[in-house]
Amino acid sequence: MLAYHERTKHHYHRYAASQGYMDWATQPDPFRRYAGAPLVRLPLAFPAAVAGRELPYWRLYVADGVEPAPLSIESISLFFRYALSLTAWKQVQGSTWSLRANPSSGNLHPTDGYALLPALFAIHDRPGVYHYAPKEHGLERRADIDPSVWADLTAAFPEGSFLVGLSSIHWREAWKYGERAFRYCQHDVGHALGTLRFAAAALGWKLYLLDRVDDGAVAQLLGLDRDADYAGAEREHPDLVALVVREKWASDRGLCLSKELVSQVASSRWYGAANALSREHSADWPVIDQVAVATTNRMFPGIATDEEFSKLPSEEELFEAPVRSGSFTADKVILGRRSAVSMDASTAIPAATFFRMLARLMPTRDGRSVPWDALPWRPRIHLGIFVHRVNDLSPGIYLLARDPEKVEPLQQAMRPEFIWQRPPSCPPGLPLYLLKAGDCRALAARVSCGQDIAGDGAFSLGMIADYRDSLATYGAAFYRNLFWEAGLVGQVLYLEAEEAGIRSTGIGCYFDDPVHEVFGISSCGWQSLYHFTVGGPVEDTRLTTLPAYNHNKDTPMSSSHPTDFQGSVVDALREAIERQIPNSQAEVSGGGGHFSIEVTSPAFAGKSMLESQRLVYGAITHLMKGDMAPVHAVDSLKTRTPAP
Ligand SMILES: Cc1cc2nc3c(=O)[nH]c(=O)nc-3n(C[C@H](O)[C@H](O)[C@H](O)COP(=O)(O)O)c2cc1C
Repeated sequence: MLAYHERTKHHYHRYAASQGYMDWATQPDPFRRYAGAPLVRLPLAFPAAVAGRELPYWRLYVADGVEPAPLSIESISLFFRYALSLTAWKQVQGSTWSLRANPSSGNLHPTDGYALLPALFAIHDRPGVYHYAPKEHGLERRADIDPSVWADLTAAFPEGSFLVGLSSIHWREAWKYGERAFRYCQHDVGHALGTLRFAAAALGWKLYLLDRVDDGAVAQLLGLDRDADYAGAEREHPDLVALVVREKWASDRGLCLSKELVSQVASSRWYGAANALSREHSADWPVIDQVAVATTNRMFPGIATDEEFSKLPSEEELFEAPVRSGSFTADKVILGRRSAVSMDASTAIPAATFFRMLARLMPTRDGRSVPWDALPWRPRIHLGIFVHRVNDLSPGIYLLARDPEKVEPLQQAMRPEFIWQRPPSCPPGLPLYLLKAGDCRALAARVSCGQDIAGDGAFSLGMIADYRDSLATYGAAFYRNLFWEAGLVGQVLYLEAEEAGIRSTGIGCYFDDPVHEVFGISSCGWQSLYHFTVGGPVEDTRLTTLPAYNHNKDTPMSSSHPTDFQGSVVDALREAIERQIPNSQAEVSGGGGHFSIEVTSPAFAGKSMLESQRLVYGAITHLMKGDMAPVHAVDSLKTRTPAP
């Protein structure tokens, strides 16, 4: 696992291994279906009995602020609508692709969702295991569960509880991103756990990760271990099962399910066979299977019982006054969430907005703040923040320790020259510190694989995991949980940005060790696991937006990297470089948005690798800007001076 993490780091001079181009012929289908499993379409109109669609967004965070909705086909429908459904189709020049409530690296959507439900009117007259089909907004019945098994399985939980599950199809991400894909799958699970938690909150429900259910049991509950159902189809890796409860319930957080009962679910009657997502697999990435095995079969006996939350801040310490007003409904924020594809390099946000967003990322001491109440462990992800445009706050590098007790260890791990100054007017409960004042826009973009969005927003950040200690405490399998927590942080930022009238974007492409260098982190005690940017978006007006569920059913699935560029991108890259860098010769290869470039020029003499690469990036930025840019990423960039 440690070796996997090391080998999948992006370096300035070498990206983690991937094919380097996209093989469109084997692009995986983003929609898993189980042929032969009965499909129940979920309604898209919601009666008033289901928690109101007029619910203000801020209310999602108020403990017991929403009257719990009764369990019904409508409330289950709204739950999946907010968690995993399609939210729009985008179209440009014959290309059409869908977006979902949950974001995904490269919009590839490796995460699939499941529910284990009791007998429910208009769904089925007995309990069952269901796979969620986002394109249809429907539930595919994978298995019937014997009512007595269901009753025993849920006996410890309040009446009307149900289970949700998540799985990942690693190939969907690996197709494009190669070895680093396993990380992205875990980020996406974290985001989906967030959308599930917020969906539950909108219905007045609570959601708890069942941290004592191991991967084998998750596979049994979701039917993922059924070899015959996946003949010729990509397997799904079990990620998690969570409990959704309607009533107020004091759980001891040692949430587990009896192995015996799980086996009885597995031996139920099952329906359906999985579809193959790609005709063939153009490349195999054995290291992904290896890290999946190395991080499987978690059992963290310590988490549930030993974690101590009393040192975390209270809601009063985090917010100057409780947030009881806002701009938008939960419906608008959740279904309207989108990634910014470009930032305007000008929008500044008030300090109060910035502090509020950060306060939302802090679990409270009473353990009730949404969505952190879903996780049984104390925060392990801290934020190294690049502040660019926050009114009344000096631009510079900041640190938010999401666990106040980690301030000191972080101070010891980071640069001795950092000043650790509390920003003026920062709420007392927010462990936020200015480390170094100064313009860090170029730095932020550079360490985020040269992506301008990291420097052109109001702020961007690296999520620094308490890496070694977490793995030592909970074992190698917790590697995945660290990414889940990072994804959950990202999901809150996505929603908070919508509420603030701006946008944000997850950034999985960043240069790992150069980020550590910025903070002076020299050992693998702490590792940056995810980046994020928040700011004023630039909309791409060339795209047409279509509604999620009125689309023509035959809408073709097409390129997830559309571009309106005419002509050869390889030639355009070569010409731009050779025109702008004196006496240079450029060799360019690749396609589908990803390219490898080698440039030889005397202009690099005496320059560092970074300075030389900056010259090249400077020459081609116009080909990398915007959603429709012909160049999505430069996977490998080599610069050299001519032989004497
Ligand atoms: C884990 C993760 C990593 C991402 N990395 C990047 C990135 O490096 N650069 C970028 O422009 N967008 C990135 N995105 C944004 C995705 O491209 C975006 O979520 C996807 O296209 C779907 O669009 P939506 O978020 O508007 O639904 C990332 C998203 C996630 C969840």
